[in-house]
This record gives sequence, C-alpha cells and structure tokens, in this order.
Amino acid sequence: MSLEERARRERLLQHAAARADACRLCAIGSLRRNNVYGEGDPCARLMLVGEGPGETEDRLGRPFVGRAGELLDKMIAAIGLAREDVYICNTVKCRPTLDDGGRLRNRPPTPQEMANCRPFLDEQIEIVRPDVILALGAPAAKSFLGQDFQITRMRGRWYDGPHGIPMMVTFHPAYVLRQGGMALTQTKRLVWEDLKAVRARLDQIAHTRAAGEPAQTGM
Ligand code: URA
Repeated sequence: MSLEERARRERLLQHAAARADACRLCAIGSLRRNNVYGEGDPCARLMLVGEGPGETEDRLGRPFVGRAGELLDKMIAAIGLAREDVYICNTVKCRPTLDDGGRLRNRPPTPQEMANCRPFLDEQIEIVRPDVILALGAPAAKSFLGQDFQITRMRGRWYDGPHGIPMMVTFHPAYVLRQGGMALTQTKRLVWEDLKAVRARLDQIAHTRAAGEPAQTGM
C-alpha cells in the first residue's frame, strides 16, 4: 500500500470520525462522554467489529481497552498479529447505557441504535476494505446477518459480509470472560478454531493475490 493511499484513508477516517462525533441521532449520543469511532491500521487486512463501547472505552474514547480488550489483544496475538495491524470498531460508536438509580450501566445496543449507526460502520468498511471481517458476539453478527442469527449454532462459519468481504463470527471476548470451568475451556477452544480459520483465510487471500488470481469469496 502506498504512503499516499494510507494518508488518504487516514484523512477519510478522520473526517468520518468527526461526523460521527457530531451525531445525536440516538439519545445515547447526548449521554456518552466520547464517541468511540474506532482505531487501527487504515489499510488493515483484518477488521474486528464488536458490539459497542463500555465504560472504559467511553472514558478513553478508544475501542476495546477494558478487560474484554485485554483478551482481544491476546486473540489477535494468537494469530500472529498486533493491535496496530488490525482495525477495531463497533456496531455503535456511543456507549449504550441505562440509568440504574443514578448510575449508568452498560446495556446491549438496540436494533434502532445499530441501524442509526450503520452508515458510519459501512463507511469504515468501505474506506479500510479489509480482506476479512471478524464479528465479535451475537449483536455484531445480527447487525450484519440478520436478527435470526444464533451464535452458538452459527458461529465458526464463513458468511458474505458487506461488499462480499468474507466474514467470520466468533464469541465476544466479554462472553468468554464470563465463562468458568468446563464452559470456559470449551468456549476458548471454539474461539481458537475460529481464529485459526481467520488466519488461514488471510493467508489464502494473500497467496491468491501474490499469484495474480482473483480472490475467492464465500467458502
Ligand atoms: N465491548 C465491545 O463490544 N466493544 C468495546 O469497544 C468494548 C467492549
């Protein structure tokens, strides 16, 4: 990727982030501290899409920097990548909260909030044009693949994401952290299978590209 192209994408992402920051389409737009637009390599081959910012992300304005983020970093490292090599964002850019007796607590984003924020996510995908998208957890998967998506039954397979980009779905790191005992071992094993499939797909696309053949979509 040329330096000019990298700079062009960085500029586009910065402009889009400023527009997302000004958005007040949802009520949470006025409750959050920071708009957590996303971050990473604008030319990343892998994009990770989570659910929505939590408390720490809202405070720091960066995606996946809390406990779930620590595990996500390990998941990325397990397939030979660093956080700087990938692009990380969420289905919604503002922290979805509910008021629990004056204290704001995290909650999943509503379908309407995800729909309102979708143009920002689509724009990110269009600018970065990753080779592979990894959706983290059921809400992210549903936002791409429909409300009928069932994570336990349907994760670990390839889907056609936006622009035909191959998309894999795995468990959300926060879900992994909530497991214990045998369930934890089993969930980690499944996540590892999914990550290995992502690594293999990235390698296959790179190989095909180097050979000058058109990359396969779907699997
Ligand atoms: N969980 C998410 O889905 N996204 C974040 O950015 C942090 C935690």
